[in-house]
Amino acid sequence: MRARIVGTGSYVPERVLTNADLERMVATSDTWIVERTGIRERRIAAPGEACSDLGTKAAERALEAAGLTAADLDLILVATCTGDSPLPSTACLIQHRLGAVRAAACDISAACCGFVYALAVGEAYVKTGLRHILVVGAEVMSVITDWTDRSTCILFGDGAGAVVLGPADGDRGILSSHLHSDGNLWDLICVPGGGSRIPPSDKMLADGLQYIKMKGNETFKVAVKTLEESARETLSANHLSMDDLDLYVPHQANARIIKAVADRLELPMEKVVLNMDRYGNTSAASIPLALDEAVRAARVKDGSLVMIAAFGSGLTWASALIRW
Ligand code: COA
Repeated sequence: MRARIVGTGSYVPERVLTNADLERMVATSDTWIVERTGIRERRIAAPGEACSDLGTKAAERALEAAGLTAADLDLILVATCTGDSPLPSTACLIQHRLGAVRAAACDISAACCGFVYALAVGEAYVKTGLRHILVVGAEVMSVITDWTDRSTCILFGDGAGAVVLGPADGDRGILSSHLHSDGNLWDLICVPGGGSRIPPSDKMLADGLQYIKMKGNETFKVAVKTLEESARETLSANHLSMDDLDLYVPHQANARIIKAVADRLELPMEKVVLNMDRYGNTSAASIPLALDEAVRAARVKDGSLVMIAAFGSGLTWASALIRW
């Protein structure tokens, strides 16, 4: 039995941080940011607004779209690297907020690939007989962003997206998922402090080790390579070609990365979903947020062939092909 997405939802915080705002914070310009990344603005969570707050709102919208209630859920999977706190899982907090009394709940840690990883885990559990699984990608990246570092602070934003999985009938559903990682590249993107290696301390905070460190150029090259490879792998595993694809929903890290991938794949940009101009890189939230917008804008229709694909810290990369 296949798993199918039966509802999508998303939520972004109200506050908008524009490139003009960033010009007042670091030595940068709107022109530089737009040319190098395609990002124009991003959303920032309000003080005290945490990952589970965003995730719960996205989940409520996905449940509503699915015509289900929280009591229908068997499992809640939350992809995040900016959970409310180390314990308990953000998934348990969302379970509590939703009142999903029957569900099991846990978080999945795969950075920007987290949603695609979580979707693959959910898919596997539907195949073993669970009926309704909530998969959430939610991030408050603004708390791990160094707002004095112009090479990273222009990139990230906050948001959440969610889908509900259920059993599929006929030819529809998730056709395949493809998960990869290469831990040799762990230091391309990392948050060095705050865990068991470098626990929180005054020195850790003074050194800024609670913030994202990134080798931007190297990450760019690996991203283009892995996204191209995973698109080809995913289509060939299903004996389909690029022409069969109706919509490509990539991780919204950088418009230049996505355009380079589309060029290599000879994929017309009309088939590519881009929304990083309004949200920046929201890590695990980026794909479900873009997917929900595409669904609500009717860019995804019954029978559409949709590919989602991500890369991120780890290094991880992952993709899935969905017959809607
Ligand atoms: N504004 C203006 N100038 C900036 C800047 C900013 N915000 N950030 C960096 N620069 C400067 C650099 O200091 C450098 O100046 P120099 O030549 O005088 O040394 C110059 O711009 C070029 O820097 P570089 O890092 O080579 O730029 P780039 O074209 O690689 O773009 C990124 C930088 C971060 C936009 C790009 O590398 C990128 O998007 N990488 C992938 C990141 C990513 O996707 N991460 C998330 C993975 S999930």
